[in-house]
Amino acid sequence: MLVLGIESSCDETAAALVQDGHCVLSNVVASQVKTHRSFGGVVPELASREHLKNIGYVVERAFRDAGRTYRDIDGIAVTQGPGLIGSLLVGLSFAKAMAFALGKPLVPVNHLEGHIFSAFIEHAEIRHPLLALVVSGGHTSLVFSPEPEKYERVSRTRDDAAGEALDKLSKYLGLGYPGGPVIDRLARKGHSSRFAFSIPKISDGSLDFSFSGFKTAALRHIEQSGIRPHIKGRRVSQAILDLVASYQKAIVDTLLRQTRRAVEQYRPASILLVGGVACNSLLRKSFRGAFEDSAGAGSERGASARPPFPRVYYPSPALTTDNAAMIAAAGTPKLRVGRSLELDLNAFADLRLC
Ligand code: KG4
Ligand code: ZN
Repeated sequence: MLVLGIESSCDETAAALVQDGHCVLSNVVASQVKTHRSFGGVVPELASREHLKNIGYVVERAFRDAGRTYRDIDGIAVTQGPGLIGSLLVGLSFAKAMAFALGKPLVPVNHLEGHIFSAFIEHAEIRHPLLALVVSGGHTSLVFSPEPEKYERVSRTRDDAAGEALDKLSKYLGLGYPGGPVIDRLARKGHSSRFAFSIPKISDGSLDFSFSGFKTAALRHIEQSGIRPHIKGRRVSQAILDLVASYQKAIVDTLLRQTRRAVEQYRPASILLVGGVACNSLLRKSFRGAFEDSAGAGSERGASARPPFPRVYYPSPALTTDNAAMIAAAGTPKLRVGRSLELDLNAFADLRLC
């Protein structure tokens, strides 16, 4: 089954052709980073306009890269939410018009389900029950999936998303946008034990996340240590390197701690690390170390002892940040069972997965 995926929930206009949910024939992403960089974050009105400008070309390019024609596809999958409403509507309207013109079925996909499916594209062996940490610029949640297409919300962030916390500190220190990849790179040269960040305890014992306290603590460190924002073209000061290393470690430790508690509770066979922040090298290493190494991953002990020793999966970087291949992959099983909606389909900014 050949599926066209369309994604436009935030600041990336994306289209992809995916065969049978696993074989990515094309994966085109038009990033708007340049448009939003000077604002240090995504400006919704500008994002919608950019999507409008790019969507036609991006879809055409996806067909060209794959060497296929419009008639070759069996259906279209499009992101319905959550996201910026103006941005979502551009992709959704385009998908509807295409489905109508070509007489092809159209299915809506939740963006978070798309991120979860991003791990399946390269890892057909992933087993349920699974626990997914969806961690990006807009989301930080733990989702439990006992069987395919069934989701239970385990926890979410009570304030900022993890990516948002990284982006905000980066902006404040003059390190650029988006901040996640910059901090990932700079933190390798810093000492993560120099600045203290105490990990918040959620008083009701829930598995929720909270990151806004780190921002306040970072501002305090900046003030107390007299740290000046970075000036472009100069060498990044050791104090900044140490601060971002300490800050990143606090975020990763928080994600790890809550995931560990969820693993004890839900006993998944697989842990999925998905969403833009899942590109983070420390996060990937920490998860592998925490969940797999202790089980002797790959060894006979690891294999026979599972569960409680789950395997950790994450997609390659091009499928980790926002893309349309993950939307096509998530839409494929829905199209297979003939679940295709009418053309009065709408977008929802706060669409829930579970
Ligand atoms: O999934 P995504 O592309 O868009 C959303 O759905 O939000 O995620 C974007 C987020 C940004 O906050 C960005 O700073 C973060 O992912 N990010 C990273 C890394 N690469 C991207 N954060 C930490 N380390 C990285 N290497
Ligand atoms: Zn996303």
